[in-house]
Amino acid sequence: MPTQTTPQVDVSVGVGPWPGPWPDDPRLDPELLAHGDRRNVVDAYRYWRLEAIVADLDTRRHPFHVAIENFEHDFNIGSVVRTANAFLAREVHVVGRRRWNRRGAMVTDRYQHVRHHPDPDALGDWAVDAGLPLIGVDNGPGSVPLEEYDLPHACVLLFGQEGTGLSAAATARCADVLSIAQFGSTRSMNVGAAAAIAMHAWVRRHSFGQWPVATAGT
Ligand SMILES: C[S@@+](CC[C@H](N)C(=O)[O-])C[C@H]1O[C@@H](n2cnc3c(N)ncnc32)[C@H](O)[C@@H]1O
Repeated sequence: MPTQTTPQVDVSVGVGPWPGPWPDDPRLDPELLAHGDRRNVVDAYRYWRLEAIVADLDTRRHPFHVAIENFEHDFNIGSVVRTANAFLAREVHVVGRRRWNRRGAMVTDRYQHVRHHPDPDALGDWAVDAGLPLIGVDNGPGSVPLEEYDLPHACVLLFGQEGTGLSAAATARCADVLSIAQFGSTRSMNVGAAAAIAMHAWVRRHSFGQWPVATAGT
């Protein structure tokens, strides 16, 4: 009887130890140079120290912010943070509980500036002080279609909880609330998906074609 063997597949990502003469660029991390860089960063940041990457991102962050209510330890918050990093949001605001479920962020929160607000009014007051309109994203009564809305250049996009949606207190502080068109049978989509659509709408309106776009994945 033939024996079954498991095919060996190379699943390593990233790059191995630095192969050439030792570089003296202070942005590079000696540990990563010595042992390889397996992080999920674009190729331009291979071997860079975390602080050097954040400092570089800070020079070109977009002017939109992302905020999400956190009253139920929603595991989707991590996914929203990861997308905020992909689209280079200026800051992420967590509203409600200080602790949030980081699993879905896949450590991208380390590359973001994350600010906490105890409740929607605290976020609303912060946005007023910063001169930023608070734009809610939910499909409740009174919402207007995102597809027809001219998103402001600098703004805060505020998302609700997976279970309850945008709270009344948060909605009351929003300049407008935007709905994303749906065509199926469910009342709403996953908040992580909704956040990605809204952020990409901002990118299409304000950013596309202006920056070199990071493309390499691992
Ligand atoms: C799963 S929804 C829950 C609440 C929703 N209002 C309902 O009645 O089912 C959670 C969050 O995802 C976002 N979301 C989901 N579907 C959306 C849509 N079609 N338009 C805008 N936001 C949406 C909103 O931020 C919302 O607060």
